[in-house]
Amino acid sequence: MTIRAAVKGVGHYLPDRIVPNSEFEAIVDTSDEWIRSRSGIERRHFVADGQMTSDLATRAAQAALADAGLQPDDIDAIIVATSTPDLTFPSVATMVQGNLGLTHGFAFDVQAVCAGFVFALTNANALILTGQATRVLVIGAETFSRLMNWQDRGTCVLFGDGAGALVLEAVEGDGLASDRGILSTDLNSDGRYKDILFVDGGTSTGTTGHLVMEGKEVFRHAIEKLAETAHRALDKAGLTPDDVDWIVPHQANIRIIEGTAKRMQVPMDRVVVTVQDHGNTSAASIPLALSVGKARGQIKPGDLIVTEAIGGGLAWGAVVLRW
Ligand code: UT7
Repeated sequence: MTIRAAVKGVGHYLPDRIVPNSEFEAIVDTSDEWIRSRSGIERRHFVADGQMTSDLATRAAQAALADAGLQPDDIDAIIVATSTPDLTFPSVATMVQGNLGLTHGFAFDVQAVCAGFVFALTNANALILTGQATRVLVIGAETFSRLMNWQDRGTCVLFGDGAGALVLEAVEGDGLASDRGILSTDLNSDGRYKDILFVDGGTSTGTTGHLVMEGKEVFRHAIEKLAETAHRALDKAGLTPDDVDWIVPHQANIRIIEGTAKRMQVPMDRVVVTVQDHGNTSAASIPLALSVGKARGQIKPGDLIVTEAIGGGLAWGAVVLRW
């Protein structure tokens, strides 16, 4: 008997305000045409004043719990992947724990920027496999609109706010690739690239700071590293790209998504794409895409899914799971 961390429920939350590309034409020298053709983004959601990452995370968690048919008390661990915590500390995860009225178990944040959800899933998997937890809420939640430099057309048009969540629970498997749940994970980082994507604030400045990105460089690494990590994760599970029902990639740029699928020789009709509606929501993008993919009827029980993401650090990785 093998213990697996299997998906029991999924949900998401997007703030009400939808911002079309055209709104940026009044702020910076850009056009709807440029944003669509270079990134695939058509619109994104932005939080309202006073609406915090923990609020989005809590709403997504409630949606995932409802989908799982569970109550907050059924959960024994909460992991939030975020780079936009309400405060430096405590963690967003403990805020969610408080909001849900949960007084047992434990909660913590994971910070691996756009790859955060892949890192959080890997941590949740390890907690379940080692018997530390039996049901884990894994949340990706971000308010990147609060990190934008509104004078920098190279970044401010790309990001959005939102949250998505999964409930993972321990189930019995056979130790085979036909099992439900997480089958393999592959994590990587390389701090030599810390200067191509960062936020220029923190304790060193006493400010929150703004996002700074060498887009072309990040793009180059993404194209190279994402297919590699996805292949490695599939290898570890004894699977090949032919076995994949859905790639659910980090949603940063349609050209990166297409380039990665092409390298993996997986056709685009087996890729869940939400970047047009959400923009880049960093650690929230994969759970948002899983939730939307299920709601659209794309993702079904038994489907083999590969998630992959890269972001600041650089940090990148992939998770193979059977829904
Ligand atoms: O999620 C974390 C990881 N992040 C990513 O994966 C993002 C990776 N990078 C990208 O997605 C792309 O590099 C971008 C979408 C950011 C940019 O696309 P690009 O094809 O690499 O464009 P570029 O940066 O080479 O810029 C091309 C031109 C430049 O003008 P010149 O120098 O050729 O005259 C830019 O100044 O486009 C200009 N430009 C814009 N023009 C209109 C940059 N931003 C804009 C804009 N509107 N918003």
